[in-house]
Amino acid sequence: MLIGLLLLVISTCSVLAQPYKNKLLPPEERAKDLLGRMSLDEKIGQMTQLCASSITLDGTKKLDLNLSKIRSYIIQEHVGSFLSGTGKAEKWIEFIRGIQEVAVKETRLGIPILFGMDNVHGSNYTDEGTMLPHNLTLSCSFDAKLAYQAAQLTALESIGLGHIWNFAPVLDVGKNPWWPRLYETFGEDPLVCARFGSAFVSGFQAYKEKDLAQGASCAKHFIGYSDPKSSWDRTPSEIPDQQLYEVFVPPFRAAFRAGVKTLMVNSGELNGEPVHGSKKWLHEQLRKNLGFDGVVLTDIKDILKMVEMHRAYENEEDATLAAIDAGIDMSMACSNTDFIRIMKKLVTEGKISENRINQSVQRILKLKFELGLFEFPYPKTASLKNMSRPEHYRQALEAAKESIVMLENQDVLPLKPEMKHIAIAGPGAHSRRMLNGAWTLEWLGAEEERQPAATVTLLEALKKKLPQSKWTWTDSVGFDRKAKSLEESTYFQTWKNEAEKADILVLALGEWPYSEFKGNASDLMLDEKQTQLLQYAQATGKPLIVILMEGRPRVLPKLRKDKMAVLFAGHPGMAGGEALAEIMIGSCNPSGKLSFTYPKNTVHTLPYYHKMSDKYEYAWPFGHGLHFGDVNYNSLQASDSTFQTSDSISISISVSNNSKMSVKEAVLLFQTDEVGRITRPASQLVDFKRVELKPGESRKIRFQLLAKDLCTYPDGEGREVTEPGFHRLRIGSEQIRIRLKK
Ligand code: GLC
Repeated sequence: MLIGLLLLVISTCSVLAQPYKNKLLPPEERAKDLLGRMSLDEKIGQMTQLCASSITLDGTKKLDLNLSKIRSYIIQEHVGSFLSGTGKAEKWIEFIRGIQEVAVKETRLGIPILFGMDNVHGSNYTDEGTMLPHNLTLSCSFDAKLAYQAAQLTALESIGLGHIWNFAPVLDVGKNPWWPRLYETFGEDPLVCARFGSAFVSGFQAYKEKDLAQGASCAKHFIGYSDPKSSWDRTPSEIPDQQLYEVFVPPFRAAFRAGVKTLMVNSGELNGEPVHGSKKWLHEQLRKNLGFDGVVLTDIKDILKMVEMHRAYENEEDATLAAIDAGIDMSMACSNTDFIRIMKKLVTEGKISENRINQSVQRILKLKFELGLFEFPYPKTASLKNMSRPEHYRQALEAAKESIVMLENQDVLPLKPEMKHIAIAGPGAHSRRMLNGAWTLEWLGAEEERQPAATVTLLEALKKKLPQSKWTWTDSVGFDRKAKSLEESTYFQTWKNEAEKADILVLALGEWPYSEFKGNASDLMLDEKQTQLLQYAQATGKPLIVILMEGRPRVLPKLRKDKMAVLFAGHPGMAGGEALAEIMIGSCNPSGKLSFTYPKNTVHTLPYYHKMSDKYEYAWPFGHGLHFGDVNYNSLQASDSTFQTSDSISISISVSNNSKMSVKEAVLLFQTDEVGRITRPASQLVDFKRVELKPGESRKIRFQLLAKDLCTYPDGEGREVTEPGFHRLRIGSEQIRIRLKK
């Protein structure tokens, strides 16, 4: 009793003497107190983030901790953050516990490490993780709740393993279909990106578990990364400020409003300036105009890239000075600690003040206190029970079923019972990699044998659902991408023989997974051999189902107008094969709609919100998606025909399900502002809702809009321009015209 009392007195005195240890104090205060106790070296270490490959035994992402390296980085150089790695859940717990024990128990101040991960479509760097659909697929659901749920599942399966800092969501607007990271975006529309992105932020950061730190999301990549002139990753973007404010800023603003705690900077250069050195964007816009006060992280080695890639600075010292001056807080230095040495030199030379360093370290420490890392620095072994749960696979299945888009269906789907002999072929027919895409256990997506066993391929799913059918499958491994031509490949001969005997053909086509610059394309057409296979299949005249598993919309050859079905799956995740099979046999009514424009050719690739003087060409437009059976819209109404710009506008539409199946319908409300001093988009999504209708059910769906949102847009300085005038509101083919007065 006495000892207990004594210990209590000692700990109370210690907390009172060291307020940063007092968890009852606000994070701001605790951070301030701790900051005041830190040396310059300790502070600069907190601004440094290294890759896991710098601290593993074999220098890869494999989770074998090199204790001597980790001690040297944390104890000698005070490094405060690490990122990435891949392996089993148990290994993760051991790996991060090992790192945290050095940081907490073997350093003077015991500041815990903030560990960063790219869990962008589930707990995707953990062998037992649930691989969810990638964002481009998920956004075709037009149901932002799915993003919230995806984030919650990701948090449940990753934070307990020590993955506290998640470099997600991507908030880049996917308006360039060539861009190799399109599949990581929520599509081409700013409102969809804003709603899905902020839902993900809320879902991930809201996750709480007893005796465990909370997670931090990361809004990336600020700003103008996704529409480079050459369409290649990390090449220069030239985007007028007015378009940046109107198209690219809104998703970040929404994430800030949702309370996102951190942000990652665009690696590329924007309008002649590497964003990592841009005081305009990282200070004036981000901090002052947009009011973001979270931690700003560079992307990988991006200070050095301002020297070596952008040639914007003579040397790394100048680049470091520029990045700090612009406003970054932490450098993802990744492979060495040059950043620490340079920072110390710049402070000694008086080029960077300690006060400026204190600003960043205060943000970093405040974040660590806010997340509860000082109280709960360690992973939780109990979290292992969260892995590989059947309900998580079911969540991945539901998400895929709600997102897959039926683009065409001329009387082919659902599969008819008489279709007994089915010939399935193509790279995606029996591939886990094509379903899960990149960022799956490896940056480019692990090889088939390491893909999560819970992944059900399309072939496996179809065989399970149609056991009575005769399946012939041409081994997709034989689809040798190196063979000079399709005709010469043994694959083709095998397939031709099978196709002749079959009642119906299924081709699973698209793209093998890629990441970032590895996906740079110089032709947006579907690759030559797949195009040839598709043309041979069409020439047979047999009913044909084409399934597209791809990171971006590859342009297809001219399609037959009869007995054809086309499904866009993107990278639909580990349950994507089963979701596709359920749609093909008709047990799931497809409900996805394109969150991007599917190009008809490789040249004319404008988004649906092109300017009125432009021409919108497409194979399938933004918002396109078919169901089994029809959904009809009628009597679109507005509460009045004229409004003050200060009013709110009630809109209603009647939606009817005229089919024998329940249907989930994404109701998309567009506007056209008929005249604008700064020319207005031909169409603009202003709201969307997803409704479920029983067979034969009709329902009135209502939207509430602020008139000013319809008639206000940013000018080249980001200032709001409000112009009265006529606006057309459209849902489906229903349209009404309203007038907004000053
Ligand atoms: C990559 C990506 C970024 C990712 C980071 C860490 O280069 O650009 O999205 O979060 O490195 O893996």
